[in-house]
Formats: sequence, structure tokens, C-alpha cells
Amino acid sequence: MNILVTGGTGYIGSHTCVELINAGHDVIVFDNLSNSKETCLDRIFEITGKRPKFYCADMRDTDSMRPVFQENNIEAVIHFAGLKAVGESVAKPWEYYYNNVVGSLNLLSVMKEFNVKKLVFSSSATVYGDPAIIPITEECPLGTTTNPYGETKKMLERIFSDFQKANPDWYIMLLRYFNPIGAHESGLIGEEPNGIPNNLMPYIMQVVVGKLPYLRVFGNDYKTHDGTGVRDYIHVVDLAKGHVAVMKKFEDAPGVYIYNLGTGIGYSVLDIVKAFEKANDIEIPYQIVERRPGDIDACYSDPSKAERELGWEAQYDLEKMCKDSYNFAKKAL
Ligand code: NAD
Ligand code: UD1
Repeated sequence: MNILVTGGTGYIGSHTCVELINAGHDVIVFDNLSNSKETCLDRIFEITGKRPKFYCADMRDTDSMRPVFQENNIEAVIHFAGLKAVGESVAKPWEYYYNNVVGSLNLLSVMKEFNVKKLVFSSSATVYGDPAIIPITEECPLGTTTNPYGETKKMLERIFSDFQKANPDWYIMLLRYFNPIGAHESGLIGEEPNGIPNNLMPYIMQVVVGKLPYLRVFGNDYKTHDGTGVRDYIHVVDLAKGHVAVMKKFEDAPGVYIYNLGTGIGYSVLDIVKAFEKANDIEIPYQIVERRPGDIDACYSDPSKAERELGWEAQYDLEKMCKDSYNFAKKAL
């Protein structure tokens, strides 16, 4: 298929481009490079032998997206583009709603104009809020979000679903990611956050390369096996392969399809620290500090629907996630 990947030079987008190319798809990328670099395309070329066709376009500007659709026979869109820093979204709500929500509405209108009716959207486990059921199934009611970033995901799920109801020949795939970590095993692509990272693995990576002195473990009084927060960490390459698997759903009837993409295993912060130390034979200095506002005890998926319906299941274990994260950190940070 000819697949447009918005946000394709970003962390998850770039890994997905690699897996799509490996599976024989033709990939076109657009990105405004606000949180990534064009050199990422050279890396994708090094890994796959193919360089995706690239457009520097911005979802906030409909006219900038038109040539992408005019010049390519796009059959489906995988939509990663968006702002994703939780803390920043609290400080800059207007920018987040405008970029993520208005930008996605613009994308939808251009897709409509060019009769492209297949959309895969990057949603997040954040839509479950403090989950009512653990492990979390897709039937778990959506929860209360604690920040504008999370709210944009909830709003967009609703917008895309309502749109599909009114346009029943469309396919809308809502993929709810759990916590992607790791990097391509070549070490050529990975996550390079701007400034001080918010998320656990990018923070650990900065500590192990000596850029930050120690990890702050946010609270050890959660209702979990060791008191630290439990999450469902998934190797980014497994997550990327989930997008390839979902392509086959386009052969079924149009509709809204929702899948959790996680491993189904919950690890605590201290489990991650220990696993990283063991996998890479390195020590991670850490201190227990106050809880981070908005954090919950535990969040992990029941990924069995994706296994049943897509034939997809995460393959890589925590050791591999830690090794590949470190391999990338040593090369890139
Ligand atoms: P990322 O920041 O690495 O990639 C997003 C890309 O979108 C960047 O390259 C950025 O330059 C681009 N972009 C942002 N606004 C744009 C605009 N207006 N027009 C064009 N391009 C724009 O983030 P990521 O981690 O790869 O996340 C990809 C998607 O997955 C995001 O929608 C994110 O919210 C979602 N998601 C990520 C996680 C995670 O833990 N990384 C978890 C759940 C969901
Ligand atoms: C966070 C966001 C979520 C978003 C996801 C991916 C919050 C409340 N949630 O999820 O909306 O979809 O990132 O971008 O911000 N931790 C530490 N020290 C650190 C960093 C994290 O102890 O320096 C702990 C946290 O308390 C948590 C775990 O590590 O228990 C994972 O945190 P993180 O990587 O930020 O992911 P989430 O909080 O699950």
C-alpha cells in the first residue's frame, strides 16, 4: 500500500516507517520537524535501503498538506503527528489543543477532499485515566484525564469515531499505546527528547550517559509490589509492528476499531532500574522523592484483542528493551 505517515520522523513514526518498508509498503512522510530532524530519513535509508519521500508540512496549515495528497496516490494515513509532553501541555494548553485537535481536523478535511478513507490514529493508555479494570481491556470505560495532552487524545478519539458514524465507508483505527521504550537495534534511530525528559526511560538514558546525576523515583508508597508505579513497557519495534498488523484490518468491513498495544506485563520503576542495570552491567544512581502529581498506581494492558484480531503480539522482553535503549543512548546522546 501507499501509506502516508504523519510525524514520520519522530520516535514511533520512524520505527514504524522501517517496519512498513520491511513489509513491502511504500511510505510517504510528512512532518513539520518541530520535534525531530530530517536526517532521520537517512537513518531509515541506512536500515532499509529505502528513503521515504518527505514533505515538510504542518497540520495547522491545510495548504501545506495538499501537495502531499496531490502528488501521491495515498491509500491510508497513519497519524502520529502531535505534541506529546504532558507537563508542557499544562503550561501551553492553547498550543496543544490547536496543534493536536485543529491540526487533526485539518488532516481529516484534506483526506476527505482526496477521498482517502483509511486512518490509523496514535492514541494512548492515558484515555483510561485511573483505570476501572486492570489489566485494561478496550471495554474499560474512558477515565478522567489530568492534563490537556491526554484530553486531546480523548477528544480526537471521539471526533474520529463521530466522523466515522456519519461516514460509514471510512475506516478508523484507534491504537492505544502503553509505554513505548527501546530503540531500533542498529542504534540509528531512537528517542531524543528536547530538554530534560519527563518519561522514565529517556531520563534513565540521560543519567547513564552522565548528563543527569541521578534518577528521581517518584514515590514508593503506591499500591504495588514494591511501592513504585507500575506500567506496561513495550519495545518501540513491537509497537511499530502493531501498525503493520493493523493494515490487514482494511480488508474487513469499514468501521471504528480499537486496540490496546502493550505487552500485558506490568513492571515497577524499581523493576526497570534493576533490569537496566543487569542488562547493561551498569549502575543507576537513584533517590526516592515525592510522588509526581497525576500519577497512578498501576496501568497495564490486556492485549489479547490485538492478538486475536490482528495476529499481533509483542515479542521483545524487558532485557532487550533495556539493551536497545542503552545502545542508542551511547551512540546518540
Ligand atoms: P515525537 O514527538 O517523537 O513524534 C511526533 C512528530 O510529530 C514529531 O516528529 C513532530 O515534529 C511532529 N509534529 C508535531 N506537530 C506537528 C504538526 N503540526 N505538523 C506536522 N508534524 C508535527 O512523538 P512520538 O513519541 O513518536 O509519538 C507519536 C504519537 O504517538 C504522538 O501522537 C503521541 O502523542 C502518541 N503517543 C506517544 C506515546 C509515547 O510514550 N511516546 C504514548 C502514547 C501515544
Ligand atoms: C506519561 C504520561 C502519559 C503519556 C505517557 C507517554 C503522566 C502523568 N502521564 O505516562 O499521559 O501518554 O507518559 O508520553 O505524565 N517516573 C519516575 N521518575 C522519572 C520519570 C518517571 O519515577 O523521572 C515514574 C512515574 O512516576 C511512573 C513511571 O515512572 O510511575 C512511568 O512514567 P512515564 O515514563 O512518565 O510514563 P507514564 O506516567 O505512564
